[in-house]
Amino acid sequence: MGFGVVGAGVVGLLEQNAGRIAEKAGQAVTLKYILDIREFPGSPYAGFVVRDFALIENDPEVQVVVECIGGVGAALTLTRRALLAGKHVVTTNKELVAEHGAELQSLAEARNLNYLFEGSVGGGIPVLRPLAQCLTANHIREITGILNGTTNYVLTRMVRAGVSFEEALAEAQSLGYAEADPSDDIQGKDTCRKICILASLAFGRHVYPEQVATEGIAGVTREDVGFAHARGCQIKLLGRALPGPDGGPACLYVAPHFVRDEHPLAGVHDVFNGIWMEGDAIGEVMFYGRGAGALPTASAVVADIIDSVKHMGARKWVGWRPADSREPLTDENLRTAWYVRLDETGGGAVTEPMTRAERTAWEATLPHPPACCMRVL
Ligand code: HSE
Repeated sequence: MGFGVVGAGVVGLLEQNAGRIAEKAGQAVTLKYILDIREFPGSPYAGFVVRDFALIENDPEVQVVVECIGGVGAALTLTRRALLAGKHVVTTNKELVAEHGAELQSLAEARNLNYLFEGSVGGGIPVLRPLAQCLTANHIREITGILNGTTNYVLTRMVRAGVSFEEALAEAQSLGYAEADPSDDIQGKDTCRKICILASLAFGRHVYPEQVATEGIAGVTREDVGFAHARGCQIKLLGRALPGPDGGPACLYVAPHFVRDEHPLAGVHDVFNGIWMEGDAIGEVMFYGRGAGALPTASAVVADIIDSVKHMGARKWVGWRPADSREPLTDENLRTAWYVRLDETGGGAVTEPMTRAERTAWEATLPHPPACCMRVL
């Protein structure tokens, strides 16, 4: 469902690696329909395109439905219908998982079906299964990630090639990295949805995007970038999640940061994503790879399809329980150094570690409010 950049990548990969996929799945995995409201004249797949979901819903040959529509409108309705019709569902839709994951997981569980979403976070990077399965014996102490390929690409191109923000964003769009509405990338909403999914998996309770303070990269200037370099730092848009004493989600936020060059996330450039975690048993661990793009994301989707085919009548456990509350989660108590730009001419400083409240109190002693503040990692 949805024959856009990723949907087309999935169809292409199913064909390109058909032999290997059949071998791994234990049976051939073949495309039956493509659901889209658009027409694709001239496409070799034009004959697969249908507009009526009832054809898919009522076809017993269809065992797995892949949702690459995006958003929470038609995607939610059709995902519910697919699960109610007894189909496994695989998705890349981070907005839908972040808003309705708990509900759709319980719908799937009630019917002994899988609802899998590896491609919703980190594009092709294996991160959700490793977190839900390989690291499940740990208490996760922190997750910090560069989770949006578009903004990381834009920041990298501004620094390395000196291109303008607008040019870099246009490049990211033409490469198929950006959301349909690229303000979701730039304003940090996409990163917010992804850190919500990671936190929900790590801490076991649904976290909603509305609970998470979110700031994007629109306020980052060339002066900030230059100051970061002079201080041995990179500017990166990060999503961060830390648990409270009860192990539930406590501190979540999205904001641009100064990342010191010694930190492994400072070396994550271009469309690449990096997800750094700390567990009480494993210590530090980081996942790295292409965070957006047709084939990297299709790699995760097709793996979920194969997993579904191999687990007909059984469930993969990748999920969480409903939220305890929808109260805002705050970074109030997190103590870090801060980069503070004092005025529009570019003068800046890095502070001693302090909480947000302590920084606000310190700012009140300045002659005028700072033009920009970022935490330092
Ligand atoms: N727009 C997203 C990004 C796509 O740039 O990371 C992958 O989720």
